Amino acid sequence: MSTGARSGVLVAYVSRNGSTAEIAETIGKEMEPIGIEAVVMPAEDVSDVIPFDEGNLGSSVYAWRLEKSAVDFARRHAANLRSMPAWLFAAGYWTDPQIREN
Ligand SMILES: Cc1cc2nc3c(=O)[nH]c(=O)nc-3n(C[C@H](O)[C@H](O)[C@H](O)COP(=O)(O)O)c2cc1C
Repeated sequence: MSTGARSGVLVAYVSRNGSTAEIAETIGKEMEPIGIEAVVMPAEDVSDVIPFDEGNLGSSVYAWRLEKSAVDFARRHAANLRSMPAWLFAAGYWTDPQIREN
């Protein structure tokens, strides 16, 4: 999927205990009725974001930090994510301005 027209929305996630994965699956399912094809998968399984129209990344939060592999994913694909609508969601008990990169 590294060449050709872009299609669909990527919902990549890093989830230590499953909740962020459930949120990612829900986001994907919510897109179906409005005709948007979503591909939901662990961030570690995403080799390339270029095939997608939009990139979403979800990360669980532990000890005020996003998952390191989520930050690594964002850095690795930053150049391509900048060329498309891109969103980050964080799953935790609360949001706090202290959340920072690993
Ligand atoms: C040891 C521990 C530390 C946590 N630290 C935070 C935190 O700093 N901020 C936050 O919002 N949630 C925190 N949480 C809550 C988790 O982020 C939350 O349960 C999240 O849904 C876990 O996602 P996951 O199931 O995808 O791993 C913590 C949970 C545990 C068990």
